[in-house]
Amino acid sequence: MRKNIIAGNWKMNTTLCEGVELAKGLNEALKDKSPKCDVVIGTPFTHLATVAAAIDTDKIGVAAQNCADKEKGAYTGEVSAAMVASTGAKYVILGHSERRSYYHETAEILKTKVNLALANGLTPIFCIGEVLEEREAGKHFEVVDEQIKGSLFELSPEDFSKIVIAYEPVWAIGTGKTATADQAQEIHAHIRQTIASKYEQTIADNCSILYGGSMNAGNAKELVSKPDVDGGLIGGASLSVENFLPIIEAF
Ligand code: 13P
Repeated sequence: MRKNIIAGNWKMNTTLCEGVELAKGLNEALKDKSPKCDVVIGTPFTHLATVAAAIDTDKIGVAAQNCADKEKGAYTGEVSAAMVASTGAKYVILGHSERRSYYHETAEILKTKVNLALANGLTPIFCIGEVLEEREAGKHFEVVDEQIKGSLFELSPEDFSKIVIAYEPVWAIGTGKTATADQAQEIHAHIRQTIASKYEQTIADNCSILYGGSMNAGNAKELVSKPDVDGGLIGGASLSVENFLPIIEAF
C-alpha cells in the first residue's frame, strides 16, 4: 500500500537545543492525534541521536539529510549510513538539489549513497527536480527521468520498493513560488509511469512520491488532494510546529 508522508527538511537550521525543542514540541502536538500520514523530520547530523531519544519514533520518523558515499574509513568529516542508522534515524534524504548543485553530487555518487543507505536499513527519500530553464524549455520530464534512471534503476525490484521519491522543482524551493497542484500532479503521474515502465505497475502504484518546494499550510491541502501527490518534503515551514502541524493535518 502506498503511504502518505509529510517530511520536514530542516536543512542547516537550529542549534542542538533549538532542534530538540522543536522535535519535542511536534511530539507533544501529535501525542493525542492520529495523523493520516507518516511524519518524518530531517535534522542535522549533530541532532539525530538526541532527537530520536527525545520523541516517540513510532510516531515521528527521524531522517538525516545526507550520508557518505563510502562505507567507513579515512574520510575526515564524513558521516556514514551505518552511523546514521546507529542514531535511531530511519530515513535519509539523498540527492537534494542543494547537494547536487553546491556539493557536486552526481548520479553516480548518489547511486552509491542509495545503495549504502539501503544496506544499512535506511529508507532513502530520493530528491529529483528540474531548474527553471529546464522547465521553460519543456525538458522537466526528461530531467526527472534521467535523475531516476541514473541513480535508482539498477536496484532490484525489492530494493526499489523501499525508495521514497521527492519531486522538488528547484525553482520552487525557498522561493515562495509553488508548482500548481496540476503541475505537480502532471509530473508525479509521469514519474510513476517511468517507474512502471521499468518495474511492475504495482511497484509504481505503491511508491510514495512527495512534492517539495514552498509547501505550506495554505497550499498543502490542494497539493495532497491530487491522486499522485502522496505528501510533501517541507523546508521553511517545517521549522515551527505552528506551520508544520497544519501541513500534517492536510490529509
Ligand atoms: P522550502 O519548503 O523551504 O521551499 O524547501 C523545500 C525543500 O527543499 C525541502 O527539501
